[in-house]
Amino acid sequence: MEKIKFELSREHNPPVLPRELGFGKFFSEHIFEMDYNSENGWYNPVIRPLTKLSLHPATMFLHYGQGIFEGLKAFKTINGEIVIFRPEKHIERLNNSAKRICIPEVDPHFLLHAINELVYIEKDWIPTNQGESLYIRPFVFGSDAFLGVKPASNYKLIIILSPVGAYYSEGFKPVKILAQDEYVRAVNKGLGACKTPANYAASLLAAEEAHKKGFTQVLWLDGIEQKYIEEVGTMNIFVNFKDEIATPKLTGSILPGVTRDSVIQILKDWGLNVTERLISIDEVVTEYKNGNVRGVFGTGTAAIISPVGLLNYKGFEMLFNNGEPSELDIRLFNEITSIQLGKIEDRHGWLNHVAEKEVEA
Ligand code: COI
Repeated sequence: MEKIKFELSREHNPPVLPRELGFGKFFSEHIFEMDYNSENGWYNPVIRPLTKLSLHPATMFLHYGQGIFEGLKAFKTINGEIVIFRPEKHIERLNNSAKRICIPEVDPHFLLHAINELVYIEKDWIPTNQGESLYIRPFVFGSDAFLGVKPASNYKLIIILSPVGAYYSEGFKPVKILAQDEYVRAVNKGLGACKTPANYAASLLAAEEAHKKGFTQVLWLDGIEQKYIEEVGTMNIFVNFKDEIATPKLTGSILPGVTRDSVIQILKDWGLNVTERLISIDEVVTEYKNGNVRGVFGTGTAAIISPVGLLNYKGFEMLFNNGEPSELDIRLFNEITSIQLGKIEDRHGWLNHVAEKEVEA
């Protein structure tokens, strides 16, 4: 693989970040970019100032959606070190998404190197409050100008960085979720496990309708029978039953969340009974009526831990913990964010330390 070229901005503008970052509204000064063609493979890697892209109107991705993305986070620890949370796992998922929609895979070591270099250059953009981070968004898309439906021959991989706070406007306050049986997000053997724009496009109408009814998001049910709970679209879901904390098993239509995986490990570390299995919405309703559901929460890179205060299914409202975060929600949020900020031991080696590098300007 070629060496990364550094074309850094001459006028370095130290960021002035607002107090309320929200999610995905601000972008750092530089991006990473590289191209692919069948002759060179991935080539021309460069870190350069962020500019608008110039694309041919026939760019294949714009018409047929052959694209993938990831979302991961960098932090400054309390000792001032720069760390990225589980980047290898995100890169592995990016390559799994790539395989599913005929995008050429990327050398994981090189991509990690590129992410590290970009984050190091933009380290002043990492916010330091608990719950805030520098969100890293790598994405790949078919870039040929061509209108036939086939896998593209040329691709672009870009990484942008965005200082972020809470994903939902509620912050850590519990969200209201509507279990959806009118539309489906993904079907088994389809694209559901793949981080591709199509899944997010599929979720928009239901999410809009849910917003109008006062809900934050939609809980998707399986695409065949609309019987089993799957995910929320921006996060995976966990149900805290009396003697078991259960999350839907990865059937192929659910995104294999990295925070989901981390939470499963943390719950096991704490000696709690965590299971991955099919969970029907009827089971959740029945167990709620029997007083056996202690709470529901979502997990995601963007969402971190998001308590669910209210879940509605066919008009039946399930209220958890009086609409307040439960003890488990708070404990999990503190554990994950404390690992990320270096406040407690990184016992599973989840932090990738971004070392100081010599960067040619
Ligand atoms: C993430 O959690 O990183 C996501 O990609 C969810 C959403 C912002 C698309």
